[in-house]
Amino acid sequence: MSATIVDGKAVAAELREEIATQVAALTSDGSPPPSLAVVLCGDDPASAIYVRNKGRAAERAGVRFTLHRPPADSTTDALVALVRALDADETIDGILVQLPLPAQIDPDAVMACITPEKDADGFHPYNFGRLAEGHPAVVAPGTPLGCMELLRRSGVALRGSRAVVIGRSAIVGRPIALMLTNADSTVTICHSRTRDLAETCREADILVAAIGRPRMIDASYVKPGAFVIDVGTTPEDGVVVGDVDRESVEPVAGWLTPVPGGVGPMTIAMLLRNTLALALARRGLARV
Ligand code: GUN
Repeated sequence: MSATIVDGKAVAAELREEIATQVAALTSDGSPPPSLAVVLCGDDPASAIYVRNKGRAAERAGVRFTLHRPPADSTTDALVALVRALDADETIDGILVQLPLPAQIDPDAVMACITPEKDADGFHPYNFGRLAEGHPAVVAPGTPLGCMELLRRSGVALRGSRAVVIGRSAIVGRPIALMLTNADSTVTICHSRTRDLAETCREADILVAAIGRPRMIDASYVKPGAFVIDVGTTPEDGVVVGDVDRESVEPVAGWLTPVPGGVGPMTIAMLLRNTLALALARRGLARV
């Protein structure tokens, strides 16, 4: 057996097409397009690439994209003032502050200035809380949403399945565990202190690796036929490396999301979907 390699790039392209069609429908009567404001502060090279890709995808989908580049030595107060102004700007539907911020800035103080109604990342505690209650809000974090969409489009039955998530971050591990729970999977969250990790992972029909340790997950962690989702993105010698040792896992798993080309492109597609959903909600229109 050899795993089906899940083509996130192709699925993301389909999704972006679907979003572009919905944006075109929304603007066909002359209404303004959904608009996304991104704040990029600092010199992190990876962040600059991510933001450039987000901007290109937004523009191709017909979403208005505005980039704000405060200087790297900005203060928390300056960023708070910028984000508050964006939040008060009626022409903006969604705001994203690219993380990480420079060390002198308090990220919580800045992120707190984005109201839930403009939270393009789905990171706001209100939106997280709705997910935790089992009644998701208009938006949710893009990476876990992308993982769920890959599962859905692969036709995997989630009800009654066993899932193991390795990683408990607020933007990937915890929200995907909630999404899987809401989809009637039985979920275990593991982390760096988990005992007998490989044994626990081998119980999983769905295994989500969001650890940030390149190639850590080999075949000894994988139940034959499992759907393995690799969320890892560690830069190594100019390429991005996942948490899954593909060579070892591919002969055992049923499905495998590759790195690159698996979850990564889905995150941007889901950001666009969030932006569209916020725009529709702000205009009192139902979600398409
Ligand atoms: N930095 C890396 N990934 C992300 C993301 O999805 N959103 C934001 N705001 N910053 C990031």
